[in-house]
Amino acid sequence: MHNRSELPVPDDSALAHSARVADLVGARLADSGGWISFADYMDLVLYAPGLGYYSAGAQKFGPAGDFVTAPGLGSLFAGCLARVAGQTLDQLDGGVVLEVGGGTGALAADVLRALRANPPRQYLLLEVSADLRERQHAVLAARVPELLDRVQWLDRLPATPLTGILIANEVLDALPAERFTMQDGNPRQLGVRLQGGKLSWSSMPAPAALEAAVRTIEQDIGNRLPDGYSSEISLRQPAWIASLAASFGQGLALFTDYGYSRREYYHPQRIEGTLACHYRHHWHADPFFLPGLQDITAWVDFSAAARAGAAAGLDVAAYTTQAHFLLATGILQEMETDGIRNPGQSPVRTQAMAAELRQLLMPGEMGERFKMLALTRGFEPGFELTVRDMRPGL
Ligand SMILES: C[S@@+](CC[C@H](N)C(=O)[O-])C[C@H]1O[C@@H](n2cnc3c(N)ncnc32)[C@H](O)[C@@H]1O
Repeated sequence: MHNRSELPVPDDSALAHSARVADLVGARLADSGGWISFADYMDLVLYAPGLGYYSAGAQKFGPAGDFVTAPGLGSLFAGCLARVAGQTLDQLDGGVVLEVGGGTGALAADVLRALRANPPRQYLLLEVSADLRERQHAVLAARVPELLDRVQWLDRLPATPLTGILIANEVLDALPAERFTMQDGNPRQLGVRLQGGKLSWSSMPAPAALEAAVRTIEQDIGNRLPDGYSSEISLRQPAWIASLAASFGQGLALFTDYGYSRREYYHPQRIEGTLACHYRHHWHADPFFLPGLQDITAWVDFSAAARAGAAAGLDVAAYTTQAHFLLATGILQEMETDGIRNPGQSPVRTQAMAAELRQLLMPGEMGERFKMLALTRGFEPGFELTVRDMRPGL
């Protein structure tokens, strides 16, 4: 975790962009009586068309951006997802891949490349950001030109339920989350107001839906949350998962992200919650730093996600760590195959793959912090999704 003063200073055009985003927040505050909820703030600074972090042109992913996700490390993660996608589509006798929130397009390109001998009928990319769509198109046109005609971009979920496999890597954490704090035994909703011209935290009595959600958490963990305890809760996640489920007729949906089961998420010692902001590979907890220039995320409550899936009629087929998922779905075979495909490969490539493997699997890296939740409808995978079933802890 870094202090604000240690963060790199952006250039003038980035500062001017952030000032425009701050003006937009100021205008929304003025329209809303001077206060908006944190979820509305997060929505605005990440997704306001043309201005939000994901909607505008900042680099975001990779070494020159703010953070690296698993598909940006190399092709091992995509290789495992391609194996699962191939097996799922074989078992279903066809179908499509739907990737939600495709980032740079690297995952789509690597999955399609791995499946090129028997490609899916369609690879659908649901992307809310016009900027990212353009980048994804450029990456796919360069890396899998022969399969580009199978890729289709969607700006909303299809009306007719799909058969196939849905992939969402690091999307749940990017959904706007509410933040609350406990006071006199009751939750207060944290939001944003201007104080002395600066965006600042400010709380209001929790509305009924937030209060009920916090009481459900307390029941589930068997404890009252103590005064001063602050955390996040995604009130939008259940509806979002329900809408995905409504568009999903038959198959397997995989969600990979950093997160915990509910008991771990709302552990009494996690008194500051899970909010994390990423700027130029520094992470910190100040969502008001340069709005529009940094990513803002909250970890995923996977118990809530599984419950939302079940409420929408899906089966919870697996929940496990990323490491146990990738080991079950062939990451070591992917390494071997790469060695066979590239005999006499350079030591640099071998070292890079070893580093990628470490980052994806090691407990201190992504291996344990990241989890995989598999939801299914009318489909029982005829292959292993994990070497360790963690569903009882959900
Ligand atoms: C942290 S990025 C992850 C990108 C990519 N999956 C990866 O692994 O690199 C979050 C992605 O989720 C997308 N996203 C956020 N909210 C979404 C929504 N409601 N529907 C679809 N995509 C969404 C963002 O536009 C962005 O592409």
